[in-house]
Amino acid sequence: MDLTLEGKTALVTGAARGIGAAIAEALVGEGCAVYLGDVQWQEAEATARRIGANARPLAMDVADAAGSEQAVRTVLGERGGIDILVNNAGILSSGPVTDATIEEWDAVFTVNLRGAFVCSKAVLPAMIKARYGKIINIASIAAVRGGGVFGNVIYGASKAGIVAMTRGLARELGPHGINVNAIAPAPIETGMTLPLLTVDLRKQLLARVPLGRLATLAEVAALAAFLASDVSASISGETIAVDGGLLKA
Ligand SMILES: NC(=O)c1ccc[n+]([C@@H]2O[C@H](COP(=O)([O-])OP(=O)(O)OC[C@H]3O[C@@H](n4cnc5c(N)ncnc54)[C@H](O)[C@@H]3O)[C@@H](O)[C@H]2O)c1
Repeated sequence: MDLTLEGKTALVTGAARGIGAAIAEALVGEGCAVYLGDVQWQEAEATARRIGANARPLAMDVADAAGSEQAVRTVLGERGGIDILVNNAGILSSGPVTDATIEEWDAVFTVNLRGAFVCSKAVLPAMIKARYGKIINIASIAAVRGGGVFGNVIYGASKAGIVAMTRGLARELGPHGINVNAIAPAPIETGMTLPLLTVDLRKQLLARVPLGRLATLAEVAALAAFLASDVSASISGETIAVDGGLLKA
């Protein structure tokens, strides 16, 4: 299977670490030039250095609409286009709804859902002009379950918004040659989840997963590379779970 992304340009948000960093590395591995957009500049710089010459750090906060548009303009100025956008930047909120606050709702929705909307809007003129583009949104199984493992109701609702936006964008942008898909991982080990993943919780979680294992970062990244490539040219509007079958259990 030829996933080659030779000569292509990607922007991956929240790519300083975790799933975003793994996706950036996988795309670079297929020959793509990748911008690692993140609020954590030093971590993004270190990750880009580790990945290699085709990875570039990019300071951006997806909660800042004007700043994100500027970051996209920087990429367009340097590369002349953006072929692939991965809306990965996200924050978690946990705990019972009785403890949740409006401030938490606003913060989570601003990063997880509005951030993906802002970045998608920012790349669209260039993608529509090129009649080519791949947008990959990182949802979560919390979108279907309404939160529940680590994420709370707010997190689940923000990710459900990602699933709906993925479908709507796919319908509107298909005629412009743009594929839009989402990946919905079950909990995997990253800086976001490790502090919460106690030995007991891991045991309980694995007991519910039909395949009896947590997915790896590389497995999520491989799916992103597939969706970023032309091998998946006829797939659009889908949200694909990487959950060991958990949602079906
Ligand atoms: N880890 C999991 O189990 C899991 C499961 C399902 C979905 N997800 C989703 O995957 C995505 C990545 O999660 P992760 O586990 O790698 O998390 P992580 O916390 O390890 O990494 C997230 C990255 O996003 C960056 N970021 C946060 N807010 C940002 C902002 N406003 N602008 C730009 N960058 C920002 C952080 O600095 C960090 O580098 C998130 O959308 C998350 O909701 C994670």
